[in-house]
Amino acid sequence: MPRHPEKGTEMSHFLDIHTTPQDELRAMIDQARAMKNARQGLPKGTPDAEQPLAGRMIALIFEKPSTRTRISFDVGARQMGGQTMVLSGKDMQLGHGESISDTARVLSRYVDLIMLRTFDEATLLEMAEHATVPVINGLTDASHPCQIMADIVTYEEHRGAPGGRKFVWSGDGNNVCTSWLHAAGQFGFDLTFTGPETLDPDAKAVEFARSRGSRVDIVRDPLVAAHGADAIVTDTWVSMHDPESARERRHNQLRPYQVNSRMMAEAKPDALFMHCLPAHRNEEATSEVMDGPQSVIFDESENRLHAQKAILRWCLGV
Ligand code: CP
Ligand code: NVA
Repeated sequence: MPRHPEKGTEMSHFLDIHTTPQDELRAMIDQARAMKNARQGLPKGTPDAEQPLAGRMIALIFEKPSTRTRISFDVGARQMGGQTMVLSGKDMQLGHGESISDTARVLSRYVDLIMLRTFDEATLLEMAEHATVPVINGLTDASHPCQIMADIVTYEEHRGAPGGRKFVWSGDGNNVCTSWLHAAGQFGFDLTFTGPETLDPDAKAVEFARSRGSRVDIVRDPLVAAHGADAIVTDTWVSMHDPESARERRHNQLRPYQVNSRMMAEAKPDALFMHCLPAHRNEEATSEVMDGPQSVIFDESENRLHAQKAILRWCLGV
């Protein structure tokens, strides 16, 4: 485990899927599944048999709204014996001119781990550079690694290892799409992107996946793209960081990429439908697909809890 350059303390930041060692990602997925299985049927507030976070204080900082990330980190840390505080960036001095580096140093004196949801990726990286405790990426404009760790858990539960499978991303090549591309490279699956050229996925993420031997195709026709897919994945057409002024144009551009029964019919008969949520029903995906037999969207939400518990343990080395 890396050590902090000044303090010599053990710590691992969880900043992105492509920058985390492959074998450690694998171990986190396995641990998430084992911890989930160990809790089957228990009331949600039951403490885990092991309490690896006993005595640990976790700060969960949000500069954007959140339902799943906020609650799943909070519940997960408590199940493992940790204590949490949920903080809004705008209520902190951080939102009123205090530097990120000073905030990181101050928080490191109070808490054992910082989870940050923010806008610019540079804010997260600066927090990680100056914190002397682990920092977790709870979503930036650029990526959403905790989500895709939960999604790998979900895919594996339903269909086994994702290696060699064809995942199709339909819609905006956004932060969630970037983390799927990172996961393609790390877990060895192929990804076909379908969407308008102006919303193409991050070129560096595409390059990363290809450099690890994954096939990444960009196909403009959504029905051609969906052909033979093992999973079809989408996300909102307008992300939290997108300007409101872009809404109408994006809707017009992305309407052909709606995941509906026609698109699902092109995929394999046992293909999964995945969405990180929150969704805008009957925009990026129809309610028929979201509530249909191939949809695993609420398992994805549940698995945020289990995946992040493994991430917290990995970061803290417990
Ligand atoms: N998927 C996800 O991160 O949801 P929240 O924005 O509700 O946290
Ligand atoms: N792409 C979305 C994901 C929300 C979980 C956003 O950034 O708003």
